[in-house]
Amino acid sequence: MRYWLVMPAAGSGQRFGGDLPKQYQLLAGRAIIEWALAPFLADARCAGLCVALAADDARFAQLPATSDPRLRTVHGGAQRADSVAAALAGCGAGAEDWVLVHDAARPCLASEELERLLAAASQGGEGALLALPLADTLKRSGEDDRVQRTEPRERLWRALTPQMFRAGRLLEALELARAAGQVPTDEAQAVEAMGGAPLLVAGSALNIKVTTPADLALAEAILRMRGGG
Ligand code: C5P
Repeated sequence: MRYWLVMPAAGSGQRFGGDLPKQYQLLAGRAIIEWALAPFLADARCAGLCVALAADDARFAQLPATSDPRLRTVHGGAQRADSVAAALAGCGAGAEDWVLVHDAARPCLASEELERLLAAASQGGEGALLALPLADTLKRSGEDDRVQRTEPRERLWRALTPQMFRAGRLLEALELARAAGQVPTDEAQAVEAMGGAPLLVAGSALNIKVTTPADLALAEAILRMRGGG
């Protein structure tokens, strides 16, 4: 099966802090975004990759991985959904082609997870996303950080990436969300708003998103455990 890869990488990573956007932090000798792209660059089924970058990004073009002829870049937008829409429009996929969207800040995607996602989505339906059933007990707080109540966790999942949809359907969903003034925080949310019900595919707890400096050490340990870096 053939698919395209879209990677939003235009965020400033405010929660991470510092001057260097988090996707360019070094992890076991390579930038986080290089680790995030690696499984797709290594996959012959990936027909093309499009990365959405901040307009003033001068770092991406310096990375060794960017010499791959399948790779394109576009300018991202103010919100993640804008960046994904720009990369979707620029990736070269046809409306019926499958597109995978993967965060630049997720460097530890395992090949087994990718295979599970591709297998699930190719069975048809509204697309699919990697996700993790919630393991911890969930508390809702008031503004004072005191517990107001315990939320039931049954059938609750954390959405990971990659997420996989038909290119035309996802672009339509993102455009409708924008027109309605909504800011979806993942692609599935936009598809859901159109009435779609994407399939949740069990991902790995090691497929972490690097959000704070503490996550860097964790991601490095995961990659080294697998023999990377
Ligand atoms: O900030 P957060 O970790 O949720 O960002 C997830 C991904 O979306 C990151 O790869 C980030 O670079 C990207 N993003 C983007 N355009 C924005 C905001 C975030 O491409 N305007």
